[in-house]
Amino acid sequence: MLRLGVLGSGSGSNMQAILDAIREGRLNAEIVLVLSDNPEAFILQRAKDAGLPTALIDCRGYAQKFPVEAQLETATALRDAGAELVCLAGFMRLVKQPLLDAFPGHILNIHPSLLPAYPGLHAWEQAVDDGATESGCTVHLVDAGMDTGPIISQARVPILPGDTAATLHARIQIEEHRLYPEAILKVAKK
Ligand code: GRF
Repeated sequence: MLRLGVLGSGSGSNMQAILDAIREGRLNAEIVLVLSDNPEAFILQRAKDAGLPTALIDCRGYAQKFPVEAQLETATALRDAGAELVCLAGFMRLVKQPLLDAFPGHILNIHPSLLPAYPGLHAWEQAVDDGATESGCTVHLVDAGMDTGPIISQARVPILPGDTAATLHARIQIEEHRLYPEAILKVAKK
């Protein structure tokens, strides 16, 4: 059974989708730790409600940065929990060394666009502002760049006339919730 660590800063709907896939027997895995840099993040509440172990990554005073000390603490917590694969699920800090080195080739991210199009923040807004007719989501391995690692799986989502950033994001999230567990399964089989 694959042991997963999940990192998120927000709502945690992707963590929930992974958990649902596990509970419904679609993914032979276990979430061993849910970490957040945001004490208010709903992902922590979801995890607690599900009886999962949680931890807070203390990045106070570091704005959007992910300081080396905090990355080391995160790596230690994940290792102590026995995590084999780390899933970023709406985690808003850029993972670099030393966390990358602690789990080489074993950190996944989900991004709300068809990478390499629209990396970075608010990808759904970028797509709408661009007048694109299609976007989607991507699960990829994390490297030291911003949304640049090798792609594991993608799903396409149409952009409809009248779409706003919010309506597009909602449609993309439906696909994300299907795609992330499938991509984890794909990685697990390798
Ligand atoms: C998702 O759209 C994901 O692609 C992006 O952040 C969002 C997280 O949503 N990286 P949630 O916290 O899983 O609901």
